[in-house]
Amino acid sequence: MCMELLKNSKVLVGEAELDNRVSELAQQINRDFAGEKLIVVGVLKGAFMFMSDLLKKITLDTEVYFLKAESYGNGTETSGTVKITKDIETDINGQNVLLVEDIIDSGFTMREVFKLLAKRNPKSLKLASCLSKPSRRKCEIDIDYLGFEIPDKFVIGYGLDCAEKYRNLPYIGYIETE
Ligand code: IMP
Ligand code: MG
Repeated sequence: MCMELLKNSKVLVGEAELDNRVSELAQQINRDFAGEKLIVVGVLKGAFMFMSDLLKKITLDTEVYFLKAESYGNGTETSGTVKITKDIETDINGQNVLLVEDIIDSGFTMREVFKLLAKRNPKSLKLASCLSKPSRRKCEIDIDYLGFEIPDKFVIGYGLDCAEKYRNLPYIGYIETE
């Protein structure tokens, strides 16, 4: 299905809208952590574009790390099992940590990632996610900095893929299935 995707795709969140919202989130983060150091942890691969845009607007003393969590095959449905396949290379004990995700769908991925990092005793642990599909949630997740709530549609672009394609689109697109 992914091959034919782009032909039937529509813009859900455009570039200007993304840019404005990312600026607002960065301002909020700059205010909330004023005078503090922030460890920013991106969840690969989907978060890379949102994280990069966000970081350009964050004026704090930051360090940047990535981890990789896998919960999806090549389809569009979650499996419910989450594997951490790449960990961060720093000790977060006593640090302010901001996790950055592309999208919270069922919530399973973030629940596992959050549990893993919370066990390491950070001073604070917050979550920024570009998108959220609340209607698909299977476990409760608090999103401290949310870009956009979206309906139950499979989205691509701005880091999000379908079978590894379309991550480079500068906007969030969706596929009209009916
Ligand atoms: P969750 O564990 O169900 O919350 O899913 C989280 C992960 O699934 C995200 O980090 C994405 O990588 C992927 N995902 C969920 N929904 C979509 C979508 O609509 N498009 C592309 N990837 C998605
Ligand atoms: Mg992801």
